[in-house]
Amino acid sequence: MKKIFFLAATVAITSAACKSSKEVSKTETPVIKTPVDCSISGMTYASIKPILEVNCNNCHSNGGAGGFDFTVFADVKKAAQKGELLGTIKHASGFPKMPARSEKLDQESIDKIECWIKNGMKE
Ligand code: HEC
Repeated sequence: MKKIFFLAATVAITSAACKSSKEVSKTETPVIKTPVDCSISGMTYASIKPILEVNCNNCHSNGGAGGFDFTVFADVKKAAQKGELLGTIKHASGFPKMPARSEKLDQESIDKIECWIKNGMKE
């Protein structure tokens, strides 16, 4: 597994002309994206099931839109293995954006699903 770490280097320039050290420094807007920390082990299907229930099962159950019934573990795993689960929720190019007709999932939910996949898609 390849992990990319983005390192943030903060350079503090102390000017001799500074009147007070308590002076508020210029606010910086970091462009750094924290890498997903998947070190938490023991993730199972139960960890992501609630996310799918709220956001996906409305369409992906009982027959299943796109052929996927996400109330069924095997279907979730199949979509994950094909790369479609992550592709759709991350709005990656080449995938339909999911959940359809709704806002993109919050980052925490996307990270959870990504980690579940990286940790071996345990039931
Ligand atoms: C409003 C209904 C709706 C919701 C909610 C929804 N989907 Fe879908 N989804 C669809 C439809 C319809 C298709 C098949 C048509 C298409 O490809 O756009 C589909 C297709 C897919 C596919 C197959 C994509 C492919 O490449 O063929 C995946 C994977 C998927 N959805 C995942 C999800 C996930 C994960 C969620 C929840 C985060 C979700 N969907 C929520 C309607 C929905």
